[in-house]
Amino acid sequence: MNSDFINLETILSIFSTDFEKKLMSFLPKTLFFSNKLNKAMQYVVKVGGKRLRPLILNEISSILGVKKENSDRVAVGIEFIHCYSLVHDDLPAMDDDDLRRGHPTCHVKFDEATAILVGDAFQSLAFEIISHKKTHNNSEVRCNLITELAKSSGAEGMVGGQMLDLEAERKTLSLEKIFELQRLKTGELFRFSCIAPCLLAEKYDELEIFENFSSKLGLAFQIKDDLLDVEGNIIDVGKKTGKDHKQGKETLVSLLGIENAKKKSQDLIEESIQIIEPFGEKAQNLIDLANFIISRNK
Ligand code: IPE
Ligand code: IPE
Ligand code: MG
Ligand code: MG
Ligand code: MG
Repeated sequence: MNSDFINLETILSIFSTDFEKKLMSFLPKTLFFSNKLNKAMQYVVKVGGKRLRPLILNEISSILGVKKENSDRVAVGIEFIHCYSLVHDDLPAMDDDDLRRGHPTCHVKFDEATAILVGDAFQSLAFEIISHKKTHNNSEVRCNLITELAKSSGAEGMVGGQMLDLEAERKTLSLEKIFELQRLKTGELFRFSCIAPCLLAEKYDELEIFENFSSKLGLAFQIKDDLLDVEGNIIDVGKKTGKDHKQGKETLVSLLGIENAKKKSQDLIEESIQIIEPFGEKAQNLIDLANFIISRNK
């Protein structure tokens, strides 16, 4: 195994242990807060996850010299949005999945109404954390972050992509339509993770560079997710496999075939790395992360 990969696995594991504590510390603690909702939110955080979006956000923040106390809050925000998207994605009305991150899904462990409310609560919490003045002393920066997160996660972002994904079941889609669907459902949250550091640093020239980087990375990530659904092992992946085919979901893998899909994701990662190479040594962890996106087995 490649030593960069081992190094990155260590970074990921240290990061996720530390980051889980951070996520837990942001969960509400008021007296009137429902115990059931509280337990369900804690459950979703504690079952883990790779925490790739926060790690990418933190790596780009360190390249751009953003203070950790600022970037950490935005990283928590994007992970809560991601958690909400997964809890809702697994609901019977959507993908109807009972396994996530190696554990029963939220609606299986609790119930559907709780899972819906958990997702809603994570979404509101993300915006509450980012809008707080501890995130940045310039209120315009906080407003920009909120606008971009709302765009990335809403109807013209993740939610819009999820809708297209459901509408596309048992339909034949063109390559272009699949690219668009995946850009929205997955790519947009990666876009936010990659541009948020530029907003925090108030470095707007870099924004376009990292937006470009994210579009390649996000698409490669979703192709790999689709490949894992075909080739992955349920124990490693932590979710049921073979679901896309069963649900009649057209993906780049079903359209291009396994080998071409692998080649496409490899090309995208190489292109994404070329975009960030000018940042030199400082970008090494980010380059390793980009490679991990397509070499991972979970
Ligand atoms: C899975 O995302 C959902 C998709 C967008 C395809 P991740 O693979 O990042 O899930 P976790 O957070 O590691 O569980
Ligand atoms: C889910 O995509 C994307 C979002 C939650 C926004 P998938 O449905 O492919 O994700 P998995 O495979 O269930 O993790
Ligand atoms: Mg889905
Ligand atoms: Mg799903
Ligand atoms: Mg999937």
